[in-house]
Amino acid sequence: MQQQGGDAAVNVTANAAADAAAISAAAALLEAGRLVAFPTETVYGLGADAENPQAVAAIYAAKGRPQDHPVIVHVAPGADLDYWVSDVPEAARKLAAAFWPGPLTLILKRASHIPDAVSGGQDTVGVRCPSHPVAIALLRAFKGGKGGLAAPSANKFGNVSPTTAQHVRDEFGAEPLLAAVLDGGPSEVGIESTIVDLSRLATHGPVLLRPGHISAQQIADVIGQMPGLPDQSAPRASGTLESHYAPHTPVAMLAPGQLPATLAQLEALGRKVALIAYSAITGAGPRVRLPDEPVGYAYGLYAALRELDQSGADLILVEAPPHALPWLGVNDRLRRAAFGSSGIVERFLRA
Ligand code: TXA
Ligand code: MG
Repeated sequence: MQQQGGDAAVNVTANAAADAAAISAAAALLEAGRLVAFPTETVYGLGADAENPQAVAAIYAAKGRPQDHPVIVHVAPGADLDYWVSDVPEAARKLAAAFWPGPLTLILKRASHIPDAVSGGQDTVGVRCPSHPVAIALLRAFKGGKGGLAAPSANKFGNVSPTTAQHVRDEFGAEPLLAAVLDGGPSEVGIESTIVDLSRLATHGPVLLRPGHISAQQIADVIGQMPGLPDQSAPRASGTLESHYAPHTPVAMLAPGQLPATLAQLEALGRKVALIAYSAITGAGPRVRLPDEPVGYAYGLYAALRELDQSGADLILVEAPPHALPWLGVNDRLRRAAFGSSGIVERFLRA
């Protein structure tokens, strides 16, 4: 664990059992109302005691996040869902049994004691039990395993989520509100959890609010019903804002057939173009080659976006992945990263 602000520095590795002292120090900081960043299998989280409104307020302050965006409550394996949720549907118990600990967040009717700051003023709460060993050790140590950690991704609002402890330090530097960063190595999934809304089952059925590593089909296989896509009245999720998870450098996606010619044209015009590709494309600028399958691609995506964002490129070109269901989570994150830059390639080619 790295204590910020000059306190004792201790290193926590993915081997949580070997770092019991650092884990209990982090749990004590959280119990005292401080913020601690910790690894999960999806991305790193910026954690606070979910039942301490001041601690949750500090998350919003550190992230620069609007007050009405709810945060997910992370719980230990075997936690009592009925403590956090007012009316647990059978589908939620089945999904928790099938996928927890793991990268699935359930949106459910909240129990009355959950602070407004956690639920963003809505009548629901997002709950998830992460599978990363350091996250599990922390949740077991915190309040004796009976607490919940409110934790959004540990990045400034709208930025790319962190998948390493170094990414978290890059985001928050000397932020005084952040008491410690637990280092558990790179997050193995690499994109945020799948979110399924079960809070309006009777009227709307299950709804997929954010695609991720656990697919709609896997959810359907467990509950016997395919989750629908969100409608206007679905609970708000900041991860569902069109522009989100975006680097500062403009991002554009191009079909594999178009990419080499466009890249050559942009480079001929003197543009410094960074490239994320899964096939062998050559160019002059910095590039990251990601695997041509969605699991490995998701694992490397955010680190690639961060690295190329630091490269001084005018543009990050992304070879568009296939429009196939296994790529849904990756395509969703790429679309959001590129959202604010629509038309950028055409503008560069005209200029
Ligand atoms: O994988 C993840 O889910 C990571 C790790 C740290 O667990 N967390 C994460 O948190 O991505 P965050 O806050 O960056 O994104 C969570 C999303 C947000 O879009 C938030 O609006 C939505 O979940 N959310 C949380 N509680 C909700 C609720 N009660 N109703 C609807 N959406 C909710
Ligand atoms: Mg986030």
